[in-house]
Amino acid sequence: MKFFAILLACALTCPLAVYAQEEPILIRFSHVVASDTPKGKAAERFKELAEQATEGRVRVQVYPNSELYRDREELEALQLGAVEMIAPSLSKFGPLGAREFQVFDLPFMFPDMAALHRITDGPIGEGMLHRLRLKGVIGLAFWDNGFKSFSANRPVHVPADLAGLRMRIQPSRVLDAQMRALGAQPMTLRFGEVYDALAAGVVDGTENPPSNFYTQGMQDVQSHFTVSNHGYLGYAVIVNRKFWEGLPPDIRRELEGAMREATRYASSIAQEENDRALAAIRASGKTQVDVLSESGRAAWKQALAGVSADMQAHIGADLIADIRRAIEAP
Ligand code: LMR
Repeated sequence: MKFFAILLACALTCPLAVYAQEEPILIRFSHVVASDTPKGKAAERFKELAEQATEGRVRVQVYPNSELYRDREELEALQLGAVEMIAPSLSKFGPLGAREFQVFDLPFMFPDMAALHRITDGPIGEGMLHRLRLKGVIGLAFWDNGFKSFSANRPVHVPADLAGLRMRIQPSRVLDAQMRALGAQPMTLRFGEVYDALAAGVVDGTENPPSNFYTQGMQDVQSHFTVSNHGYLGYAVIVNRKFWEGLPPDIRRELEGAMREATRYASSIAQEENDRALAAIRASGKTQVDVLSESGRAAWKQALAGVSADMQAHIGADLIADIRRAIEAP
């Protein structure tokens, strides 16, 4: 009798167990840029690595180009569990209550990528990611894009050239202060809206690394692009905390490994992608590319020198000081 009861229990539960084992865990990874950008490529690389490492127990579905959610919506979707993974630009963490991430928006904060990596690959970056747990998300990694340039429909050589222009910004108080310091009028728009807004003349100009500019076709609607490298744009990859902590530990370990590898890949291609995009902008013949000289950059640094002091209370004076110390340390 007991034997039959076991057999019956098994008959009822075994198919379910097998099904549960075979059904892959789905990671929906939503982002707002094109697939052929540093972030787009790194997301695809993560997919490949994660699916390989887990031998199909995890399936990653990447949704580029705001196909699924746009800027702020994807943050909400992540918190609600409607997607599992996103990689917003560091300028967009305000709605999570993590405005300290806007430290990366401070103009001329990072002299080069090596200085930036001292922060994102070091204890300060680790601490920032760790503190996101309190917001219901887990910060897995920083991914590179690169330094931003200004674009407009007029030559931009000196800060006064932006005076009076409506400049699109990401939703960040620091970027708002930056544009105001230059005499421009900041306008916050979602990334997916920028091309149309430029085409319609709703905004006059914008700032982004070349890869984002070129892959959105902005060379069709902006006559001038000035390589100013005045600020940084990069990402943090974040996951829904409940989802991540509910994963089987072996799967989570594999995914962490895949993320480490995808992060290395992202930093190895970002510069190259931006160089290639800049060459393509030039080759398009539609947008004139100017490069600020070191002395030309000095005028911009001076015009923007007050932004950091004005934003101390917003970002946290200690964090700014810690970052400066870490960058300057021998
Ligand atoms: C932007 O809105 O300009 C960027 O955040 C887009 C991106 O994700 O690179």
